[in-house]
Amino acid sequence: MDLYSSLLYGSLVTIAVSGFFVISGVILIRLGYRDYHKGAMLLASVFALIFVVLYLTRSSLFPHTRYEGGHRTLYLSVLWSHTFLSILNLPMAVMTLYLAMKGRFDRHKRIAPYTAGVWIYVALTGWGIYFFLR
Ligand code: HEM
Repeated sequence: MDLYSSLLYGSLVTIAVSGFFVISGVILIRLGYRDYHKGAMLLASVFALIFVVLYLTRSSLFPHTRYEGGHRTLYLSVLWSHTFLSILNLPMAVMTLYLAMKGRFDRHKRIAPYTAGVWIYVALTGWGIYFFLR
């Protein structure tokens, strides 16, 4: 496999694993497993960081792929919302983690559902963009 494909598939796998851990973390806290929730969210964060490194390496080394299909408006709305929310996800995740680590769970609980929602949307649309460009 060449470098481009390794970076592309590596980023697709890491974003999917990260999204999987966020969904698992939400289910675990709903079931009352606080420690497993913490573990799942920390793993989700580690995989998200690996994703960012692979993604940035790929975009700095290779040109972007242009969408040539017939659903350009839909593609651009998915791309822009994905890009905007992926940038927003970083400070939201940092704040959510920070509040949890400081034990301020009342504030953690208020922001966390939004963070989880944005995170899952970014992971799903990341895959969506891959399918658009295939
Ligand atoms: C960015 C990563 C995280 C996300 C997205 C997240 C998400 C969530 C969500 C969606 C809830 C349920 C809120 C509700 O009741 O509706 C929650 C609650 C909770 N989270 Fe997290 N969480 C994260 C990291 C952590 C970490 C690292 C810890 C532990 C240090 C933690 C500890 C807790 C606890 C104890 C609750 C329950 C609070 C309560 O019911 O009083 N979370 N989190």
